[in-house]
Amino acid sequence: MAVLLLLSLLSSLSLQFCSCASPWQAMTTGSYMTPEDHDRMFLLSPDTTFSCGFHQVGTNAFTFSIWYTTVKTVVWTANPYSTVNGYSSPVNLYGSRLSLNKDGNMVLTDTNGSTVWESKTSSGKHTIVSLLDTGNLVIIDSGNKTVWQSFDSPTDTLLPRQNFKKDTRLVSGYHYLYFDNDNILRLLYDGPEITSIYWPSPDYTSVSNGRNRYNNTRVAFLDDEGNFVSSDGFKIVASDSGPGVKRRITIDKDGNIRMYSLDASIRSWVITWQAVIKMCDVHGLCGKNGLCDYSEGLKCRCPPEHVMVDLTDWNKGCKPTFTISSKKPHEDFTFFKQPHADFYGFDLRFKQSIRLQECRDICLYDNSCISFTYKGGIGMCYIKYLNYNGQVYPYFLGDNYMKVPQSFNSSASSISKQESLTCKPSSSEIMLGSENMYGIKKDNIKWIYFYVFTAILGVLELLVIVTGWCLFFRKSNMPKSMEDGYKMITNHFRRFTYRELREATGKFKEEIGRGGTGIVYRGVLEDKRLVAVKKLSDVEQGEEEFWAEVTLIGRINHMNLVRMMGFCSEGKNRLLVYEYVENGSLDKYLFGERITESLLGWRQRYKIALGTARGLAYLHHECLEWIVHCDVKPENILLTRNSDAKIADFGLAKLAKRDSSSFNFTHMRGTMGYMAPEWALNMPINAKVDVYSYGVVLLEIVTGTRVSSGIIVDETQVEFPDFVEKAKQILATERITDLVDGKLKGCFDPEQAIAMVRIAVSCLGDRSKRPTMDKIMKALMAYDDEDGHPAYLY
Ligand SMILES: *[C@@H]1O[C@H](CO)[C@@H](O)[C@H](O)[C@H]1NC(C)=O
Ligand SMILES: *[C@@H]1O[C@H](CO)[C@@H](O)[C@H](O)[C@H]1NC(C)=O
Ligand SMILES: *[C@@H]1O[C@H](CO)[C@@H](O)[C@H](O)[C@H]1NC(C)=O
Ligand SMILES: *[C@@H]1O[C@H](CO)[C@@H](O)[C@H](O)[C@H]1NC(C)=O
Repeated sequence: MAVLLLLSLLSSLSLQFCSCASPWQAMTTGSYMTPEDHDRMFLLSPDTTFSCGFHQVGTNAFTFSIWYTTVKTVVWTANPYSTVNGYSSPVNLYGSRLSLNKDGNMVLTDTNGSTVWESKTSSGKHTIVSLLDTGNLVIIDSGNKTVWQSFDSPTDTLLPRQNFKKDTRLVSGYHYLYFDNDNILRLLYDGPEITSIYWPSPDYTSVSNGRNRYNNTRVAFLDDEGNFVSSDGFKIVASDSGPGVKRRITIDKDGNIRMYSLDASIRSWVITWQAVIKMCDVHGLCGKNGLCDYSEGLKCRCPPEHVMVDLTDWNKGCKPTFTISSKKPHEDFTFFKQPHADFYGFDLRFKQSIRLQECRDICLYDNSCISFTYKGGIGMCYIKYLNYNGQVYPYFLGDNYMKVPQSFNSSASSISKQESLTCKPSSSEIMLGSENMYGIKKDNIKWIYFYVFTAILGVLELLVIVTGWCLFFRKSNMPKSMEDGYKMITNHFRRFTYRELREATGKFKEEIGRGGTGIVYRGVLEDKRLVAVKKLSDVEQGEEEFWAEVTLIGRINHMNLVRMMGFCSEGKNRLLVYEYVENGSLDKYLFGERITESLLGWRQRYKIALGTARGLAYLHHECLEWIVHCDVKPENILLTRNSDAKIADFGLAKLAKRDSSSFNFTHMRGTMGYMAPEWALNMPINAKVDVYSYGVVLLEIVTGTRVSSGIIVDETQVEFPDFVEKAKQILATERITDLVDGKLKGCFDPEQAIAMVRIAVSCLGDRSKRPTMDKIMKALMAYDDEDGHPAYLY
């Protein structure tokens, strides 16, 4: 008892410094800590947010690290690559330890006494080591001067108030975040064989990526509110910006950087921003020869006749099971076609306007060629000497051809391909947005808010990257170099002067539309092209910001999306110039003035439904997965002369006013009748709101009635929810004629009509059960008869 008393007395006396029974507040010279006591001996920051000490990473492996106390997330490590042993052996009684030597040097030693890490400081015996509330571990000399701090040598994480500087790097495996020679903050894959930048998008110049090369300060900083600002002009705001949130920016194992906020209530991290949206764009992700593929969820796979080098690590890629002998290559080899695949970069040669056979021969007779990518149409031929950064692009109209031995048996290898080559070993470390866009939870990271806020605020840089991706896949063109990409952007998209547009529209004479975001006028450009000019109201953005955002929208190109051709930003005027879509909006044909003029036939209706689904699926899946339209309705579906649907007004949620009074997204976007219930319920908004609105539109296309505002069935007014119930009942009986627009006089395809109503009903259900736009598009395509049966009656 007395001993205990004495002990506690002692410990309370020495509380200020080394106490062995409770966490330390500081370390003085001569003191040390050991892994064996790692759960008792560690430094704690005054407000207890951070701890610093030995962190167990394996049964007998430790690092000296700093972590968030409550969640144990490590934010800094002294010895990330060389762990120390935990326990002393009979040979080595002392074990590993971290000590602050009498000369003021902080040293980490392994069990055999070798120095694993040291601070290399020599500030004398009055040196103190302490952990600050910011998570910064500091060594302070007798003059109260900081002689060393962990903030100067980050590992994979940047904390608020920590400067990211010229010489610092965030590192995860072969992936780095760093300031490049040209002052730009970049992500780099620096592997054993290649070095390759993947963020910001290498397909654009730094200017079009929104970066400035002329500020050589090279410093980036995350503040307490969640703003991350870099001297090259790159700025992001956490989706949950504001004070009082614990955050971090980390380069994750998959090579992406993300900003996280700590949700204390569930003790887990929420992603509030990430650099690369399409994970396949992270270079080196699937290693040499590996192909990154989204088709069945994000996956790496090896081409035929190739096997994974290391079954636990996709970064190591795939190796061929054959060797290329040099004697008579053209006799020994053949090619295996990988549809829509390409390996980015590393072209030995590039040829244009040649035939597939010629391209093939070039590769066949060139020993250093291991594959080629050929794109028909203009006949682009890319001869590859290295296969890196491989992807399958659903929208790429070219194919990659891998050189394989003549004896290659395609049926055999396509069978064996499946089991052995899934992304299993590291799939848990690859995080992908796409399927999460609809709010499916993965691990304990909550993506959903991320999408919501991103959709609302829009993060400029994200869009730059994503649109870069879009552009990359554009059907007509595929930039292979920065120049190509840049040209393509500038060719189609430009800035107009206000005078030019005033002239084009005849002083804004002919109004052709009016919506929440502004009034649209018809105009004719100098080169005689017809345009629709939208005068935005309520835009209070600065010129630069506006410029940046519209430029991004301008890069989107899809046949079912209205193309933006340019913009004007002068003084208070903000105008957008769009391609002119001849036949106006769908509402006019369904229930408006044009209904008598020309009734939409069934075939046209189906085409419009499918086109709209395609456009939305593109926005949600292929392209800007960040773009949730938020205002899908017949007014925003325009028709071409051939009754092809083109969706208007996407991407504009971001341009609207952002002051606090109108920040309420609910009132900013969306139209009553088409808005999913979650808007009203204050629930997080994700892409499923568009799915809901699409469901309403689909019903309106079938019924030819504004069902969103109630409908008359059997001479009684039926409210929308009741109508949906009724539609369900009708579906069950398959008496679909009751629902289809009477004006069609029975000329419709019942199978298609049933499919449409069935899809519509599923879109209007509980959010978690709503299908994705991608699925909807595929379902509709299955019933599409464009090329097929002429037997229909209309
Ligand atoms: C201590 O052990 C490590 C590996 O455990 C070894 O690399 C190092 O050379 C050893 N140092 C000494 C001084 O024996
Ligand atoms: C040491 O410096 C810090 C700020 O740099 C100050 O807050 C603190 O009071 C100083 N301590 C002493 C003992 O001078
Ligand atoms: C360069 O960047 C730093 C940090 O963001 C900023 O403080 C400084 O004003 C910039 N300099 C110029 C010339 O823009
Ligand atoms: C290719 O593989 C399949 C399945 O293993 C086998 O049935 C077939 O005979 C093989 N063909 C050749 C030409 O080797």
